[in-house]
Amino acid sequence: MDILNKPSLSKARKRSKSKVDIVEYKVDEYIKDLGVGKKYLIQTHGCQANEADTEVMKGMLLTQGFEETSIIEETDLILINTCAIREGAENKVFGELGRLKSFKRINPDLIIAVAGCMPQEEATIERILSTYKHVDIVFGTHNISKFLNYLYIVMKEKKKMIEVLSKEGSIIEHMPLARDHRFKGWVNIMFGCDEFCTYCIVPYTRGKERSRRKEFIIEEVKKMIKNGYKEITLLGQNVNSYGLDFIDNKYSFAELLDELSDLPIERIRFTTSHPKDFSDDLIEVIAIKDNVMPSIHLPVQSGSNKVLKKMNRKYTKEDYLDLVNRIYKRIPNVSLTTDIIVGFPTETENDFQETLDLVRKSNFEGAYTFVYSRRKGTPAASYESDITEAEAKNRLHRLNDLVNEGYHSGNKRFENKIVKVLVEGYSKNNKSILTGRTENNKLVNFSGNEALIGNIVEVEITNAKTWSLDGKVVSNQ
Ligand code: 5AD
Ligand code: SF4
Repeated sequence: MDILNKPSLSKARKRSKSKVDIVEYKVDEYIKDLGVGKKYLIQTHGCQANEADTEVMKGMLLTQGFEETSIIEETDLILINTCAIREGAENKVFGELGRLKSFKRINPDLIIAVAGCMPQEEATIERILSTYKHVDIVFGTHNISKFLNYLYIVMKEKKKMIEVLSKEGSIIEHMPLARDHRFKGWVNIMFGCDEFCTYCIVPYTRGKERSRRKEFIIEEVKKMIKNGYKEITLLGQNVNSYGLDFIDNKYSFAELLDELSDLPIERIRFTTSHPKDFSDDLIEVIAIKDNVMPSIHLPVQSGSNKVLKKMNRKYTKEDYLDLVNRIYKRIPNVSLTTDIIVGFPTETENDFQETLDLVRKSNFEGAYTFVYSRRKGTPAASYESDITEAEAKNRLHRLNDLVNEGYHSGNKRFENKIVKVLVEGYSKNNKSILTGRTENNKLVNFSGNEALIGNIVEVEITNAKTWSLDGKVVSNQ
């Protein structure tokens, strides 16, 4: 076994001011055609950043001749791209790794690889090494570009390869990409996070904030437009701090969004925004530019000032509501969604009521809600808590009831209206029904011809349900 490097959370916490290098992706000559005649299967857990990383790793495999399969029994390689955000996400991966043991017994040549955020944690590496000995390759979020090198060593030299770097490296440009969708796609504008919310493992697993140079972002978007893409989603843990890490020039997220919206792309979305950096300039760009979609995901996490402070969120409930009101005033048609954590250490019933109050006042049209999960190595892991699991779950249920009302009234306001829908394909549940998203990111189902897939069409909404809208096609745009 080759263990080149193991992770260290205390090293991962460090932040340096040094300039981030930009490096061109290149494959070593000896790796060429490594996958001819071989199949791969990738399982992706977690957020959009992982989905985007999976598209890169697929691209790397496909360009060396590997073919994708969804059948475990016939694959030569299984890669699990993991998520560390909550214990539940990690348990899913451990369960999956346990299940794979029997496949490896039947096919000893099967290569099992683990990537993503979980390997960045010390405890996880130790657990994989001691309990899941059938895993062949482990690497993290900072060395994806070396994936094929590890694979080569395992395939040709029959060794195991473990390498996880604690410090983020350079930004690698022009990585291969095999996008999941043909009309909409992710565009990374930055990597990492410097916020250090006290509950969150992401600043440790994804490293310091590094923004991509606008030239590369614009080049990527132009290429997508040429290939028929209609919608892009700009990705970053906190897109509002885009550019703050540039040492030699000043360029903000609002400026980037403004510049990108001048390109002939129909729809631009972005995620995720931290409320503390959401500028009036940004509100203005969203308000003015027709191709910047009126749907904003603005995680609030809690409505209690005491809890927000303990979470290190750097804003108060009043700041947040003020921002929300400024957004509604300038963009009246906007749909706001959020993330909320319940059961954070020391959260009282009163604090929780403050959260419910904020949810009522913000008119959210959707929210991802979570029970706090203790993440080893984060500051909040050492906070005392006397909230029982039952109480936390009870708060989650009460919150979800309120959030669901928001989903429903957010959908209801489109009844009998004509909306523009990017048709994505057939519905998962009913193969004769088309499905797509409105500008406000609402899911719409309607009957129509296959030829509409990939187009933006006008749909009249006939019925609003809690999770989706029904409609009928009015015209092709
Ligand atoms: N426990 C519960 N939820 C968490 N999130 C991040 N860390 C934790 C944690 N330790 C949630 C936050 C964040 C979303 C992506 O996941 O709400 O916005
Ligand atoms: Fe985690 Fe906070 Fe960074 Fe979001 S902004 S990734 S919650 S540390």
